[in-house]
Amino acid sequence: MKQLSEAQLKENWDKLIQVIKDTFEDGSERRENLLRMYHDLEDRMIMAPASGKEEYHYCHVGGYVEHVLHVVDTALKIQETYESIGGHKDWTDEELIFSALHHDLGKVGDLNDEYYVPQDNDWRRKTLGEVYTSNTDIPNMRVPDRALFLLQHFGVKCNVNETLAIKLADGLYDEANTYYMKVYDASRSLKNHLPNIIHFADHMATLAEFDEWKRGDEDEKEEMESKIENIKSVTVEKDKQNGVPQEHEDPILENKHKDLFDELFGDKS
Ligand SMILES: [Fe+2]
Repeated sequence: MKQLSEAQLKENWDKLIQVIKDTFEDGSERRENLLRMYHDLEDRMIMAPASGKEEYHYCHVGGYVEHVLHVVDTALKIQETYESIGGHKDWTDEELIFSALHHDLGKVGDLNDEYYVPQDNDWRRKTLGEVYTSNTDIPNMRVPDRALFLLQHFGVKCNVNETLAIKLADGLYDEANTYYMKVYDASRSLKNHLPNIIHFADHMATLAEFDEWKRGDEDEKEEMESKIENIKSVTVEKDKQNGVPQEHEDPILENKHKDLFDELFGDKS
């Protein structure tokens, strides 16, 4: 599983704060309230994962901030592609970035406690890959609803485009969204496509994050297999020299074997 160093956690956090400073007007009420909210939630937000299961996305310490930055970047790219293929952009960059930044805010938890807590059931960790589980001590709310609650608590106003984009970020993966997104009467359909752009960005970023996790896992497995093969080859080489398996006597082979063993399993001394 991916592990971020303390320096990487700090770097991602600084990037996130810089996006806020670059996007929202200096001295505006919205920027000030956002910075206050981020300051108040910093300790939890910087550590939060983006999901609870290994095969989902960015299920590691710092995964939330990494995912949010990824979605902002992806949303800007999708917006550009959308316009280049003839789509009409009837929202602002600020609305797009604001919605991408906060689509998962509810995953940070409520005012007092985190949403994701470590899974302490060993069976569920090993069998189901649940690294985290949802905290049942906080009120049960949908993630977008908690996001909108937190924003209003800190006095951060959302316009209707942003409200719908945050609320509908999961697209039709959330059945509750069919009311807004599966509409066959044009007069009731969404007035612009920002919610779809945010959903596409979230979904696409999530797929890429899954690929990254899977590749990382496969790389780790390949590396382990290659080391095991190295140990076997050393043993076979030694056995060939001696005709039959026996205790290591050649100091070069003996040391090589020990180095590989230590590399694989660590120095236990
Ligand atoms: Fe997300």
